[in-house]
Amino acid sequence: MKNIYPNIYTFNKKILKKTANYLKLGNIAGIPTETVYGLAGNAYSKKAVQKIFHLKNRPKKNPLIIHYNSITSLKKDVILNKNFFKLYKKYCPGPLTFVLKKNNKSKVVSLASAGLNTIAVRFPDHKIIKSLLKIINFPLAMPSANLSSGLSPVSASDVYEEFKRKLKIIIDGGNSKVGIESTVIDLTKKPKILRPGIISSMEIKKYLRVSFSKKNKTIRSPGMMKKHYSPGIPIILGRNTKNLNHAQITFGKNNKNNKNNFNLSKKGDLKEAAANLYKIMRKIKKKGFKKIFISKIPNKGPGIAINDRIKRASK
Ligand code: TXA
Ligand code: MG
Repeated sequence: MKNIYPNIYTFNKKILKKTANYLKLGNIAGIPTETVYGLAGNAYSKKAVQKIFHLKNRPKKNPLIIHYNSITSLKKDVILNKNFFKLYKKYCPGPLTFVLKKNNKSKVVSLASAGLNTIAVRFPDHKIIKSLLKIINFPLAMPSANLSSGLSPVSASDVYEEFKRKLKIIIDGGNSKVGIESTVIDLTKKPKILRPGIISSMEIKKYLRVSFSKKNKTIRSPGMMKKHYSPGIPIILGRNTKNLNHAQITFGKNNKNNKNNFNLSKKGDLKEAAANLYKIMRKIKKKGFKKIFISKIPNKGPGIAINDRIKRASK
């Protein structure tokens, strides 16, 4: 198949092996997950982790999520607890990240977790990252594959747009199904959600008591930084525009068919809306609109995560 991008590869055994070797040598590759695409590097290699921070232009104090494919490999780096197992059984692999205590044998390089004594870990649910993790003997540090504070990529070409030829390998895994980043939950003490996601606090409450961290200054989360997930143009929340030169993002049934109208989900499905959010924002920016108006989105379930992202994007 003809491919206009020199570094985007269709998934097959050959590219899988090539990527595994490439990562072993401390290099970085763009890899699909079910949430968003990630910038993957060997979490046990200082060189690789440094490269990730450098490529993203990411502040050193912002820790990365480490991706695993089995409890056996996870145990080497963190201390597991009851709450972890409860949620693991229910949601893993899937779009949920656990903050756990690092154990003293852990080989995860200190910079990856920003020098903290905790590590954020996740079991991603996408065929490609799963096959990759199976054939390497180290976990993958993997932030979203975008420049710091920008929009997360949900397709291989989005990753290309962010890094162009600075990446030698981007594997094409189609559009990310979830479309927004994983829910992050701190399990080192009383369970607390640090970043909302498609798995909402309402869901998690079925299995354990959990609170929501709005402002916790002691937790260093870039997802909690004010400006984040930004398309780089002004966003006005909870309002509609009549100006056809401005983009209008809507949700649910409406009769607007104007060229500036982008609907997150005509049937009013919040999961579908989350899956479309970054894709639509990127499209709007590419089309050259200078401003985005977003109408009100219900603040429940996945809507909480959507509102969190657009609020930060609007700062
Ligand atoms: O869905 C996802 O989580 C994607 C895919 C690629 O897996 N990754 C992702 O990574 O969104 P990133 O780097 O964009 O966001 C990582 C989030 C940040 O909010 C960070 O602060 C938090 O995880 N985090 C990482 N380690 C932490 C730790 N030890 N304590 C508290 N928060 C942590
Ligand atoms: Mg990110």
